[in-house]
Amino acid sequence: MAGQTGGTAAKILVFDSGLGGLTIYRELVRRMPEAEYLYVADNAVFPYGNLADDELVTRLLALFDILIEREQPDICVIACNTASTIALAPLRDHFAVPFVGVVPAIKMAAEQTKTGLFSVLATPGTVKRDYTRDLIARYAADCEVTLVGATDLADLAEQFMRGEKVDPGKLLHEIAPAFVEKGARRTDIVALGCTHYPLLTDLMRNIAPWPVNWIDTAPAIARQTQKVLSGLAQGGHGASGGAANRLIHTGQNATIAKVEAFLRKVGITAIYRDEIIG
Ligand code: DGL
Repeated sequence: MAGQTGGTAAKILVFDSGLGGLTIYRELVRRMPEAEYLYVADNAVFPYGNLADDELVTRLLALFDILIEREQPDICVIACNTASTIALAPLRDHFAVPFVGVVPAIKMAAEQTKTGLFSVLATPGTVKRDYTRDLIARYAADCEVTLVGATDLADLAEQFMRGEKVDPGKLLHEIAPAFVEKGARRTDIVALGCTHYPLLTDLMRNIAPWPVNWIDTAPAIARQTQKVLSGLAQGGHGASGGAANRLIHTGQNATIAKVEAFLRKVGITAIYRDEIIG
């Protein structure tokens, strides 16, 4: 049954550098409302897009060492492309608990494009990764793919979540390189390669140079998480009977206080700060 392992509620740990992973969390809850959720936002070092690769991997291994021991999740969802494209393999090597990662939807975009021109909008970290380039070589060799490393878009999404006004000029500056014209052909798909970006889809649609299909990976990730959970033999570690979904964040309280109303709306009722690795 959805959100259950071996007959008891599953405990799902959802992780991101900030609040973007809530786009994945929302889909997970829609699909598996009976599971218990712990959302971890490592916002002390947000954005991950600016961290060096080895620094990021070391940090993630240290965080999960503590989180897995303390929280005993049945599954961890790395709701962050920037982290998944560099750390998924080391995390799976180090820990027995299953990890589901989020990576740019290059295969889906290649299958859906009609013009053969599509773009991947992601953080500078995700864009430069071999993982991303391998996905293109494997699934989109016959397409023309534009990789756009957006330096400020995740931050604009966080501003939007805090209820601050997003400057349309800044937003257009971030997304404009994703719109490419070659003769009579134009980009027809923009794959959102950062979990923060779906928060801005309506705003981006309003200012886009022309209409495109914006691909959000959240529904596919929720499906995959459910599939992995249903294959687990042992009973879940989730509290049955509707335990509070919790959010732990490593950064400043003030940042989270501004999004509290949104968090409550998506069912997160316990919010606390914990540096985890100090
Ligand atoms: N939400 C994250 C992702 O999917 C990244 C934002 C950041 O740079 O921290 O890539």
